[in-house]
Amino acid sequence: MTGAAVLEARDLARYYPVGRGPFTKAATLKALDGVSFSVAPGNTLAVVGESGCGKSTLARLITLIEPPTAGNFTLDGIDSATATKADHRRMRRAVQMVFQDPFGSLNPRKKVGTILAEPLAINTDMSGAERAEAARRMMDRVGLRPEHYGRYPHMFSGGQRQRIAIARALMLNPKVVVADEPVSALDLSIQAQVLNLMMDLQEEFNLAYLFISHDLSVVHHIANEVLVMYLGRPVEQGPKERIFERPLHPYTRALLAATPRVNPEDRKERLVVKGELPSPLDPPPGCAFHKRCPFATDLCAAERPAPRPLHGRTVSCHHAE
Ligand SMILES: Nc1ncnc2c1ncn2[C@@H]1O[C@H](COP(=O)(O)OP(=O)(O)OP(=O)(O)O)[C@@H](O)[C@H]1O
Ligand code: SF4
Ligand SMILES: [Mg+2]
Repeated sequence: MTGAAVLEARDLARYYPVGRGPFTKAATLKALDGVSFSVAPGNTLAVVGESGCGKSTLARLITLIEPPTAGNFTLDGIDSATATKADHRRMRRAVQMVFQDPFGSLNPRKKVGTILAEPLAINTDMSGAERAEAARRMMDRVGLRPEHYGRYPHMFSGGQRQRIAIARALMLNPKVVVADEPVSALDLSIQAQVLNLMMDLQEEFNLAYLFISHDLSVVHHIANEVLVMYLGRPVEQGPKERIFERPLHPYTRALLAATPRVNPEDRKERLVVKGELPSPLDPPPGCAFHKRCPFATDLCAAERPAPRPLHGRTVSCHHAE
């Protein structure tokens, strides 16, 4: 897939310096470390893992809100490590973001038509009439009615607001859309509608999605590829079918066991992890999962498992066999 990828990350990392208080010295929080992947046009890479594992940090790097501490990524052929200012402008257009909270991300004082036309006013020399026409076309495409054009965000339901946010993200014809928990705030029945819309739009515009979710049933619906993260590091990644049918990393297995809505019949295994998520400031040595893992050995506590290919995916575990 590498040759055709529109987004490719290599060993991406983001560290945050954090002061621990007046009597202890500053520490480094590794929010993201050693993350590599590639996404081809028309495909969805889902990023999964529990709260604090670095999902939104990854989204902020790919959308150029923050630079990586180490590693790099190429977006639409431009390398983040060597990009000029002009390249950055091109990259910013090529990648757009959809957020979890469709209310917080839409300006409450602006009408829907204005919200959608705005990116065109800033980035193109289209006339006002052309911008309005493009906004109306996109509204139709995401299932909003013409009379919604002059209404304000608060007049819409959560699902409709997310349609507006998706429409806005697509106004500049991006190649990559980063969606950070785009349906988590919505009712279950609405979630499926918005996911189906996203899949239709993906096909129509040949979009690559970086889709962030903690909900494996959502991921099962939308992903082609899955990246499971734990404390900022990738633990297992590969094609969705492989991961869901036969997860190899104990952490992936535990996540899946906790998601009965995905293949409830096949899910006889009840792998439960013990203990709490360790502090990302003090991750355990060796495999960061070893204190919670039912299969941990001395090797796991001593040596961090490197990502390695196994049964059609990449897994970071000493005992994945
Ligand atoms: N600006 C920052 N300064 C210091 N630490 C940060 C900063 N941003 C994020 N972190 C830390 O980095 C880690 C990863 O955070 P991130 O928001 O990426 O997690 P997440 O997977 O998106 O979690 P959630 O599912 O709760 O949204 C967390 O431990 C978080 O506290
Ligand atoms: S490396 Fe060891 S502790 Fe880590 S997940 Fe694999 S078996 Fe468990
Ligand atoms: Mg987040």
